[in-house]
Amino acid sequence: MKILVIGGSQFVGRAFVTEALARGHAVTTFNRGISAADLPGVEAVRGDREVPADLERLVAGRHWDAVVDTCGYVPRVVGEGARLLSGHADAYLYVSSLAALRGWGVDPSVDDASPAHDCAPDAGPDDGDYGVLKAGCERAVTRHFDGRTLLFRAGVITGPYDNVGQLDAWLWRLRTAEGARRRVLAPGNPDLAMRVIDARDIAAFGLRCLDEHRTGPFVVASPEGHTTYGEWLAACAAATGTEPELAWVDDAFLLGHGVTPWTDLPMWIPDAPEHVCMWATPATRAEAAGLVCRPAAETVRDTWAVLRDRPLPELPLVNTHGHRSGLAADRERELLTAWDARQRPAAPASRT
Ligand SMILES: NC(=O)c1ccc[n+]([C@@H]2O[C@H](COP(=O)([O-])OP(=O)(O)OC[C@H]3O[C@@H](n4cnc5c(N)ncnc54)[C@H](OP(=O)(O)O)[C@@H]3O)[C@@H](O)[C@H]2O)c1
Repeated sequence: MKILVIGGSQFVGRAFVTEALARGHAVTTFNRGISAADLPGVEAVRGDREVPADLERLVAGRHWDAVVDTCGYVPRVVGEGARLLSGHADAYLYVSSLAALRGWGVDPSVDDASPAHDCAPDAGPDDGDYGVLKAGCERAVTRHFDGRTLLFRAGVITGPYDNVGQLDAWLWRLRTAEGARRRVLAPGNPDLAMRVIDARDIAAFGLRCLDEHRTGPFVVASPEGHTTYGEWLAACAAATGTEPELAWVDDAFLLGHGVTPWTDLPMWIPDAPEHVCMWATPATRAEAAGLVCRPAAETVRDTWAVLRDRPLPELPLVNTHGHRSGLAADRERELLTAWDARQRPAAPASRT
């Protein structure tokens, strides 16, 4: 196949490019050349998807079997690109999000058939939050590639070159779990199920779907039983070669001490029905169509292999979108001290 990847130099796009090249496809990437270098072996076209003249230069004289769009956030922008591309590509795979689904994160029954948020296909950046706008982007793509669109509603994605930083932050923290820092604050419930998915598995599944001319929406997440929070941290320790003492601190304590779920302790959500359904959405249609997810420990190990020779960063990590991941060492120490004080039995009353 001839494939155009919009993005293509970073994380999910990079995973698509790597997988496509390995399968012998011809790949064009389209990006501004700001975030990262393009992979060898691609035809790299420089441009900004928000600039119509750049898109016109991209499509001139080219035709692709499929477009893979990994960086679409604003319906109006995605729609304008899809309009221009519609005569130059046969299919369009749009990487969307579970957040596009109405009820996701609060309703445990959300699945492949759930409706997306209401959002116009020509909405602008201020017309909704991330999930609402992703729903508008889905409509924008479908408007121009009707019957030729794949919508991947992805859950939490991680893996090598993850540019969010959540797994990276855990790996760096576990790497330092020696000596005075051996004791690591671990959040909530070690049995909490996590259906995190490796970007490389999304890419492999996407290319398979394009090969098989599949269309329509797919929830894309790992299967039930994929991993738990306890297994995840154990995998981080194994990958980095440390033997931490994990101090599992309960949700109420953490919330009561102002710890922010998801960011301060990456991927931690309080273990309550209205939150855990963030991890519960089943990928039924994708599994039936052949989605295969590698073991979580492999994702963790391969991600560490990319990081291990980099200089040790301070936590929290802050990515280019301003997303924070991890606790500063002082803050973690302070929380552990407060946790120990809370658990210490009261001194017996004096008899004198
Ligand atoms: N991470 C998760 O857990 C998660 C979960 C669900 C869904 N998703 C979805 O997964 C998708 C992929 O995420 P990601 O983090 O890999 O993507 P990303 O950071 O949004 O995309 C980065 C890529 O897009 C290019 N790019 C950015 N702005 C551009 C522009 N204006 N014109 C042309 N190229 C541009 C970048 O290169 P240049 O900067 O060089 O242009 C880079 O190659 C996103 O759509 C996201 O909504 C992510």
